[in-house]
Amino acid sequence: MRIVCIGGGPAGLYFGLLMKKENPDHHVTVVERNQPYDTFGWGVVFSDATMENMRAWDSKTAKAIETAFNHWDDIEVWIKDRRMRTTGHGFVGIGRKKLLNILQERCEELGVELVFEREVDSDLEFPDADLIVASDGINSKIRNRYEKEFKPDILVRPNRFIWLGTKKPYDAFTFDFRRTEHGWFQAHIYKFDEDTSTFIVETTEDVFRAHGLDTADETRSIAFCEELFSEVLDGATLMSNSRHLRGSAWLNFNRLICSKWSHFNGRSHVVLMGDAVHTAHFAIGSGTKLAFEDAIELTRQFRKFGSTPDKIPEVLEAYEEVRAVDVARIQNAARNAMEWFEVVGSRYADTLEPEQFMYSLLTRSQRISHENLRLRDKKWLENYERWFAARAGINIDPDGPPVPPMFTPYRVRGLSLQNRIVMSPMAMYCADDGVPNDFHLVHFGSRALGGAGMIFGEMTCVSPDARITPGCLGLWNDEQAAAWKRIVEFVHTTTSAKFGLQLGHAGRKGSTRVAWEGIDQPLDDGSWPLLSASALPYLPNGQVPRAMTRADMDRVKADFVAATKRAIDIGFDMLELHCAHGYLLSSFLSPLTNQRTDEYGGSHENNARYPLEVFRAIREVWPADKPISVRLSCHDWTEGGNTPADAAIYAKMFKAAGADLIDCSSGQVSKAEKPVYGRLFQTPFSDKLRNEIGIATVAVGAISEADHANSIIAAGRADLCAIARPHLADAAWTLHEAAKIGMKSIAWPKQYLSAKLQYETNLARAAAGPSPA
Ligand SMILES: Cc1cc2nc3c(=O)[nH]c(=O)nc-3n(C[C@H](O)[C@H](O)[C@H](O)COP(=O)(O)OP(=O)(O)OC[C@H]3O[C@@H](n4cnc5c(N)ncnc54)[C@H](O)[C@@H]3O)c2cc1C
Ligand SMILES: Cc1cc2nc3c(=O)[nH]c(=O)nc-3n(C[C@H](O)[C@H](O)[C@H](O)COP(=O)(O)O)c2cc1C
Repeated sequence: MRIVCIGGGPAGLYFGLLMKKENPDHHVTVVERNQPYDTFGWGVVFSDATMENMRAWDSKTAKAIETAFNHWDDIEVWIKDRRMRTTGHGFVGIGRKKLLNILQERCEELGVELVFEREVDSDLEFPDADLIVASDGINSKIRNRYEKEFKPDILVRPNRFIWLGTKKPYDAFTFDFRRTEHGWFQAHIYKFDEDTSTFIVETTEDVFRAHGLDTADETRSIAFCEELFSEVLDGATLMSNSRHLRGSAWLNFNRLICSKWSHFNGRSHVVLMGDAVHTAHFAIGSGTKLAFEDAIELTRQFRKFGSTPDKIPEVLEAYEEVRAVDVARIQNAARNAMEWFEVVGSRYADTLEPEQFMYSLLTRSQRISHENLRLRDKKWLENYERWFAARAGINIDPDGPPVPPMFTPYRVRGLSLQNRIVMSPMAMYCADDGVPNDFHLVHFGSRALGGAGMIFGEMTCVSPDARITPGCLGLWNDEQAAAWKRIVEFVHTTTSAKFGLQLGHAGRKGSTRVAWEGIDQPLDDGSWPLLSASALPYLPNGQVPRAMTRADMDRVKADFVAATKRAIDIGFDMLELHCAHGYLLSSFLSPLTNQRTDEYGGSHENNARYPLEVFRAIREVWPADKPISVRLSCHDWTEGGNTPADAAIYAKMFKAAGADLIDCSSGQVSKAEKPVYGRLFQTPFSDKLRNEIGIATVAVGAISEADHANSIIAAGRADLCAIARPHLADAAWTLHEAAKIGMKSIAWPKQYLSAKLQYETNLARAAAGPSPA
C-alpha cells in the first residue's frame, strides 16, 4: 500500500512507523511543514496505561520514550499563601521535541520516508496514495477541505491560555493560583526533562482583557506572567516558543469532534487522525495519548482485515466505530476538568478553604473519587477526612480512624442530622383520600431504621385538587394529620432519623393515574380541574389547566399555610417546598410553562413572584429554628427552557427570602426534554448553586454508593446527598454502605445489632476473595 501521512506530529509519525513495521513493503511517507527540530509547545504528560499499549505495539519506541521520561508522583497546590502536597498520582512527562525526535528516528530506522519543510495544501497532491492520513493537527487543512463530509463541530472555550516554558525543574505537578485586582490566574506547571518545565498560564476572558493582555505582545505577556508568578518561579524566567503562531500567543482551547472520520476523494481514501479529528483539553493532558491510540487502532484494524487497498473501506469504518466511543469517553472526562478551570475563579478560589479547594481540584474530572484518592495517598486523604470532620464539629482523635465525610453531622438552624444522607421524596401512590396508612408506617419506619440522617415524606399535597393521582398523600384535614403523627412519632421515638415533609401542588400534572397504571395518563373517571401558571396542557391531548387567577393564588397559598401549620403540630423537623418537575410552583418558574403577560410572567423576577410569595407565607408560620429547603428543576433539558444559570438566579431569590437549602433536581417540566443521564448527573447543578450563590444544597440523582456521596460532600459540591431509588431497593442503604467502606462506628438499631458483625464479617471475607480450598 502507498500511505501518506500529512503532518508529522505524534499521530502521523507513530502511525507511519507502526504500518511500516507491520509490513516493510508498504510505502509510507510522512510530510511535515516544519523542520525536524522545530515545534511548538514544551512537554506532554501521559499515564501508565498508554505506555502499556505502546509497549505492546512497538517496544523499541516505548523503551526510548520511557528512557527519556521524567516520572513524578506528587501534586502541589499553591493558593492564598498555602502550599499543599499529595502523592501517588503517577505521571510521566516528556519534552515534545524529544518525543518527536524519537518517533522520527524510529521512522527512519524502519524506512518511513520523512519529508520536512513541505506545506501541503491538498490531499490531491498525492494522487498515487491508497491511504492519506490527515494528521495535520487542530487546524487541519485537509479536514477543512471536506468540511461537508467530516462535519467538524468546533466549540471555542472561553478561557485564555499561554503555553510557556521555564528552566526550573519542579519536583511535583504544580498548580499555582494567583489573585489580581481583576480576578484569578492559574499556572499548570510540570517538569519534562532534567531542567525544563512546561508552564501554562490560564485565565478567563474578562480578566485577560481587564489586564490589557488582549493588546499585549508576547514580551509583555511573559513579563506579566513572570511578575504574577514570581514566587513559584523563584528567580527563573519564562520562555516562549510560539513564534509560528499568528496573532496573540494567548489561545482559546477549541473542542473538536467530527461526525465522520474518513472520505474517498475519488482516488484515495482520506482518514482523520489525532487533533485533526478530536481534541482533549490539557487539563487532563490526553491529546497525545489520543493521537497514539488512534494510530494503534487503525493499525490494529489493518492487521485484522488485511492491509491491502481493497480492505481500506472496512478498516476505516471499524476504526471510526471503535475510536469514536473511546474519544467521547475521554472528552467527557476532559470536559469536567476543563470546566472546573473555567469557573475556578468565580466559584471555588474565593469560596472554599484551601484544603477543600485542593480536594475539589483533585476530583475535578469526577473520575477520581474519594476511594481513588485513598489508594493514591491514604495519609493525605485521612488527614483531609479529619480536617473535614473537625469542620463539621466532631472531636477528632488524631490517632483514631477518620470519619468519612458522608458520616459527619450536619446542622442547619436548630436541626441536627447525624449524617449527610437523606432519603429523597418518593411518591408511593397508595393513599386513600390522602391519608397515610400502614404501608406508609412500614415504608417510612423501615427506612428511618436504615441509617439515613433524615427521611423525606413523598410529595404531600395541600388540597384534594393538588394531588398528582388519587393515591397521593395529603395534609389538608385532621384525619391525615393524625395518621401522619403516628408515623412521625414512631420515627422519632424508635430511630435517630429526622423526618422532613415535602409540600407540593401538582398543577397541570395533576389528575392522573397511579404510576403502575400509566404514568402521567389522565384518569378514566373522577378527574378534577387543574391549575397552572398558563393554560397549557402537559400532554398534547391532556386536560387544559386554568391559568391561575389572583383568587386561585390566594386560595392555594392559604392551603400551603394550613398544611404547614398541621406539619408543625405533627412534629416534622424540616419542610421542603416542591418547586420542581413541572408541578404548580415549577410551572411559574419555567418559560416553557409560564407564558403570562402580567406581573407573574415574562422575567425571572415575575416568574418567581408567586412561588416566592408561597415560600414567604410558609416561612412566616414555620418555626424559626426549623429549616426549609426548596426543590428546583435546575435544567429543563429542552430548547428554550431553564438552564442552570436560570436556576442560580432563582436560588439567589429563595436564599434572600430565607430558604436554607436548595434541593437540586432537574427536568420533568416538558415532555420534549432530552436529559443527559449518568452517574451523579445532577451534582454539577448543586456544585454551581452552592459555590456561586453561597447557599447550602442537596445533591440528588444517580448517587448510588458511599464513594459517590463521600466525594460529593468532601469536595463541597453539596451539603447533603439525597438517595431515592437505592432506598427502595434497600431500606438500610446507609447502614449497608457504611459496612461496605469499613465504617464500623455507625449505630445500628439495637434490635438488629446481632446482624451487624456478621454482615461486616461477610463483606470483609468477600473482599478478601475465595479462601484456599
Ligand atoms: C497548552 C497545551 C498543552 C498540552 N499538553 C498536553 C499534554 O500534557 N499531554 C498530551 O498528551 N497532550 C497535550 N496537548 C495536546 C497535544 O499537543 C496534541 O493533542 C497532540 O500533539 C496531537 O497530535 P497530532 O499529531 O494529532 O497533532 P499535532 O501535534 O498538532 O501535529 C500536527 C503536525 O502537522 C503539521 N502540519 C499541520 N498542517 C500542515 C500542513 N498543511 N502541511 C504539513 N504539515 C502540517 C504541524 O506542523 C504538526 O507538526 C497539549 C496541547 C496544548 C495546546
Ligand atoms: C418512585 C419515585 C417517586 C418519586 N416521587 C417524588 C416526589 O414525590 N417528589 C420529588 O420531588 N421527587 C420524587 N421523585 C424523584 C426522586 O426524589 C429523585 O430526585 C430521583 O429519583 C433521582 O434520584 P435517584 O437517582 O437516587 O433515584 C421520585 C422518584 C421515584 C423513583
